[in-house]
Amino acid sequence: MALKLVVLISGRGSNLAAIVHAIAAGTCRAHIARVVSDREGAEGLMFARAHSLPVTTVAMTAHPDRSAWDAALTAAVAAEAPDLVVLAGFMRLLGPQFLARFPQRVINVHPALLPLFPGIAGPADALAAGVRISGCSVHIVDAGIDTGPVIAQAAVPVLPGDDARSLHARIQGAEHALLPRVIDAIASGEISLWPELRIDAGSNAQDVLFSLGPTAPTP
Ligand code: GRF
Repeated sequence: MALKLVVLISGRGSNLAAIVHAIAAGTCRAHIARVVSDREGAEGLMFARAHSLPVTTVAMTAHPDRSAWDAALTAAVAAEAPDLVVLAGFMRLLGPQFLARFPQRVINVHPALLPLFPGIAGPADALAAGVRISGCSVHIVDAGIDTGPVIAQAAVPVLPGDDARSLHARIQGAEHALLPRVIDAIASGEISLWPELRIDAGSNAQDVLFSLGPTAPTP
């Protein structure tokens, strides 16, 4: 079954682009019903418009408080009745109304091997800790900061001379492969999220769950 997605972004949208390209290539059984951003200026919105994807901006500043923003974001996404909500560089914590409306149906991609290095500085924190391997995680979103159950991870090396930017670029190369593969594995039923995370032990999903990412960044 092709999954109906709503993708939430705040920035560049390279993970959104990876999903769009994988769908076009037939390797990600999904379609994107709408792209929603909290920032009108998000670069990824230009990409979405250029690919004829419906877009909506729900800015925090356009609402009197966080609860009103939460209600507006929830309504904008619920209007599409998505099977799955994908956070692809969405830089705000979801509110309680949103999470109650889409329990176990929101996934996020994070640039570190969770539970290590949650938060906005995953690559820099990994470098500061001196780890030799980092990577990315796709996880179910709960009310915490990058705390929900981990679905899949891909590892990349930390190379001599790396700074946060070069490490993040290498991690993003892994993200661009992992996130569409996880969405496809959910579409195929190899990975179930609801009512709770379950992975079909007999499926090909194992190679999705534990993968070695590229050693070079993707453009
Ligand atoms: C990604 O590295 C993702 O892990 C993090 O935010 C970044 C978004 O990048 N949550 P992009 O907007 O998809 O290029």
